[in-house]
Amino acid sequence: MKFQMNDSAIIKQVNELMAQMSIEDKVLQMVYVDGPVPGNEAIIKEGRVGCVANVFTSSEINKIQSYTEKTKHAIPYLMIADVIQGYKTIFPIPLAEACSFDPDMVEKTSKAAAREAGASGINWIAGPMVDVARDPRWGRIAEGAGEDTYLNGVMGAARVKGYKDVDRMISCTKHYLAYGTGEGGRDYNTAEVSENTLRNVYLPPFKACVEAGTESIMIAFNDALGVPMSANKYLLQDVLRDELGFEGHLATDYQAIRELITHGVASDSIEACRKAINAGSELDMAANIYIEHLTGLIESGEVDSGIIDRAVLRILYIKFSMGIFENRYYDEELEKTITLGDDLKKIALESARNSIVLLKNDHSILPLKKSGSRILVTGPLADNNDAPLGWWRCQGKPENVITVLDAIKNTVAEKSTIEYLKGCEIIGGGSDEIESTVKAAGNADVIIAVIGEHAKMSGEAHCRSDISLPGRQLQLLAKLRATGKPIIAVLINGRPLDLSSVIEYTDAIVEAWQFGISGQAVADIIFGDFNPSAKTCVTFPRRTGQIPIYYNHKTTGRPHETPDTIEHLNDEALASFQTTFNSKYMDLKSTPLFPFGFGLSYTTFSYTEVAIENSNETFTAWAEVTNTGKVAGAEIVQLYIGDVTASITRPVKELKGFVKLHLAPGESKRAEFTISPDMLSFYNFENKLVVEPGQFKVWIAPDSATGNYQIFEIKES
Ligand code: BGC
Repeated sequence: MKFQMNDSAIIKQVNELMAQMSIEDKVLQMVYVDGPVPGNEAIIKEGRVGCVANVFTSSEINKIQSYTEKTKHAIPYLMIADVIQGYKTIFPIPLAEACSFDPDMVEKTSKAAAREAGASGINWIAGPMVDVARDPRWGRIAEGAGEDTYLNGVMGAARVKGYKDVDRMISCTKHYLAYGTGEGGRDYNTAEVSENTLRNVYLPPFKACVEAGTESIMIAFNDALGVPMSANKYLLQDVLRDELGFEGHLATDYQAIRELITHGVASDSIEACRKAINAGSELDMAANIYIEHLTGLIESGEVDSGIIDRAVLRILYIKFSMGIFENRYYDEELEKTITLGDDLKKIALESARNSIVLLKNDHSILPLKKSGSRILVTGPLADNNDAPLGWWRCQGKPENVITVLDAIKNTVAEKSTIEYLKGCEIIGGGSDEIESTVKAAGNADVIIAVIGEHAKMSGEAHCRSDISLPGRQLQLLAKLRATGKPIIAVLINGRPLDLSSVIEYTDAIVEAWQFGISGQAVADIIFGDFNPSAKTCVTFPRRTGQIPIYYNHKTTGRPHETPDTIEHLNDEALASFQTTFNSKYMDLKSTPLFPFGFGLSYTTFSYTEVAIENSNETFTAWAEVTNTGKVAGAEIVQLYIGDVTASITRPVKELKGFVKLHLAPGESKRAEFTISPDMLSFYNFENKLVVEPGQFKVWIAPDSATGNYQIFEIKES
């Protein structure tokens, strides 16, 4: 349910309090102070700012909250932290969890993370991140639900609900708007994007989170439509407040108000202050600009005091409604029992199992048998307890991670059949390790190579210009391939990588992502204790040069009709280019390596043709899905819709629904979807939300690249 300030009793309490507050008291409520930053101790001790960040234990937080109680108005602190993939019990990165296509599970992990954070005294989570990300070079792709608008909305809303379910906890949906589309995949870069695309692609996940009840939204660093977001009155006021009806609190990002000067739209900090406050930025995160100038600007009449009154009303309303005025302290004993509890670890395992995507499994080499074969475990990430935690690990510690090697040892029947050699480093290193590993491969029946990225190769400000496997890892795979032994690749990474060579050198690929603490999930999948069902929420490019590549692209006037024909630049390709003037590269196929929505299982599924029924102007689309294999499995069935003709160009198809069906061998179930008007609506040229009459294609399919469609028609009313 949308956050609304409609409780008159709370409004009364806030008004009474505000009547006693000075302008300075109010301005201080609009200030965020970073706890660990040297020099901030004094202001925290004064107890008068609105929010303190990055303090992590209940004893510390209780101490800090006690400062607020001693002040004239005794307004408790909001205590904020980036709980992106758990607090101390680390879950898979959000990109991985989105591959589960299971919002109930994501709500459960989010609630668990919020419970653990809340037990330590955190009451404001700086998440979820719902930035649609079509560029895997961008390091923060790890932090959201990937490239799809609808999926980001569903997962974001699930997280908001999970956080809300915890006592005294609120969320901060971020980063509004278009932060995921920085040019060249570089963090903080300009979002060169039309208003129409902003509305059709980047805005809907924020709408979903507003509707799920997020209490606050964080404003992005970047500019959009030529104006930095912290000063973007149009997108903050007209769109977010007036159109989406968001009534919660609007926080800027870290030092972003000061960055209005670097962006070149403010000549000094006073102008930055004026622009930010007038645009609707209500919390100054660590820029110290409101503290320096805002009181003065209000006293001199340069800024209307009504603006800060509205902002402070919202902050105090939230603080009252959370119940932190009555109780700002946390039970230090309870924190001990909740933190890293077995229940949390169980949820982490469930999440990792459901987030790991099986990308390749030639000749059903997986699952492996637990006994009877000699296994060589290799790769720089096999025995690595740091990389699985990813960049946003909050309070997660490597010592709590079960590595893939540990998990394999826990799972196989005879430990003696496992040999482990690192093979190479993630980055750098010499070739000696490779040679000895190749030698050891001679004694093995099967090789498990755990490869990928360092934890710090994704995350904020950690972008890559080339998304292939770093270091000598490919060399290791190539040499192991030459031994003729079967190879299972397990990938630990924060973004989809270029796997064009990995696919050639291996028999199976398990995309484990940065799975958090539960390496056991990887072994459960490799040895068949869990049948994988996740499907990728991002397109895997063949090469970095294909980026941006995403399933819901436009057709163009000249689509590439035979996208799978071109291998590389050769005479044939050159000759064909004399005659075929369409949208392609001369040196690469136009298709992705793995499409959005793709993932394998240890069983197989068949789909009937899509059927469409129309009764009382409501369309229902359905298909029968059957487990045609020998083991039970879960299939993520996806609904895509494409607008055949519209007043503006529209994507070839868009995900509009999905369902996970659990099927016993031979069992069939119907996947049925009611097609609602919002599934057909889009922002038109005038940026009005419309449903245009005409034909629509409907797919019910295992991924975004396969399946047949049916057509239905919406008649002019
Ligand atoms: C990030 C935000 C984060 C904030 C506070 C910023 O650099 O962009 O997502 O919430 O830091 O840690």
